[in-house]
Amino acid sequence: MERIHITDVAPRDGLQNQAVAVSTADKLALVERLAAAGVASVEITSFVSPKAVPQMADAGELLPLVQARLPALRSSVLVPNLKGLERAHAAGAREIAVVLSATETMNRKNINMGLEQAAEVSEQTLRAAQALGLHTRAYIAVAFECPFEGTTPLDAVVALAQRMAAADAGEIVIADTIGAAAPAEVKLRLAALIAAIPAERLAVHFHDTRGLGAANAWAALEAGIRRFDASVGGIGGCPFAPGAAGNLATEDLVLMAERSGFATGISLDGLMGAIDLAQDLLQRPLGGRSIAWLRRQRDKQQALA
Ligand code: COA
Ligand code: ZN
Repeated sequence: MERIHITDVAPRDGLQNQAVAVSTADKLALVERLAAAGVASVEITSFVSPKAVPQMADAGELLPLVQARLPALRSSVLVPNLKGLERAHAAGAREIAVVLSATETMNRKNINMGLEQAAEVSEQTLRAAQALGLHTRAYIAVAFECPFEGTTPLDAVVALAQRMAAADAGEIVIADTIGAAAPAEVKLRLAALIAAIPAERLAVHFHDTRGLGAANAWAALEAGIRRFDASVGGIGGCPFAPGAAGNLATEDLVLMAERSGFATGISLDGLMGAIDLAQDLLQRPLGGRSIAWLRRQRDKQQALA
């Protein structure tokens, strides 16, 4: 069976926007549940301004705990600038992700920089991280539509992705930050990107705002993409991008991929355990589109046992 690679971004994209404060110990417990479910790669936290995102203020405490407890887990962290990289490195980071939006306004709202400055800071941060021996990812946010500027020009997305490839980003993550993409557009944009950058270096990051997250992931799979971000329970959303709902749920992606002949290495039962914990922590019902069916399956199995 062909393998796909999933990075669960729940502890970062999932938690950054939550009203309920989650303790460092509880974040660690969530990452442990994900690892126990077979998730091999997790985006743990972000080293951003604690004024901008208070939920991520404990990044420097959380990362070393995760890496000590789960040494085999691929743990990445988001950094918006050199100061973030410095903090991440001091905490022992092995992999970082820079975040560059494909429009002027989204960069200003998210990281208080214009597009050209954000691109330059991303390049510098990638280079500095590589010099420290770290693995790198680069997000291209609002790669389909921007909440402030409308449809994002495809040539801008390709040009920025190429700049991040030229700066040797190990993985370039094409992100539908507000969940506005549809499968035909995904196919078209990924074809243009794959013509410029090898598919092995590209990943996709979908949000499920309009219920098209899994359909978009399928379009990406058919286009040749094998690296996906997703968030367990579907929690997520950028606090600076109005209208962004939760991410494509990891359980929906795993179900779709496994039912279609791809191996993920991830157990749906294990993911249910992570969702149960996240629900307790966030005090609200969570889960992707498959959650009701998954729960019924679990109930049936438990009744038989
Ligand atoms: N981590 C922690 N603190 C940081 C930081 C970082 N990565 N980068 C800057 N700061 C601090 C500065 O030291 C300064 O602190 P001070 O007020 O105590 O002197 C303060 O933040 C302002 O610094 P400045 O460089 O002027 O930053 P800014 O106000 O223009 O904000 C960002 C820029 C990038 C730090 C901020 O917009 C941010 O953290 N954005 C994160 C957005 C995010 O997480 N989005 C969701 C994920 S995509
Ligand atoms: Zn996101």
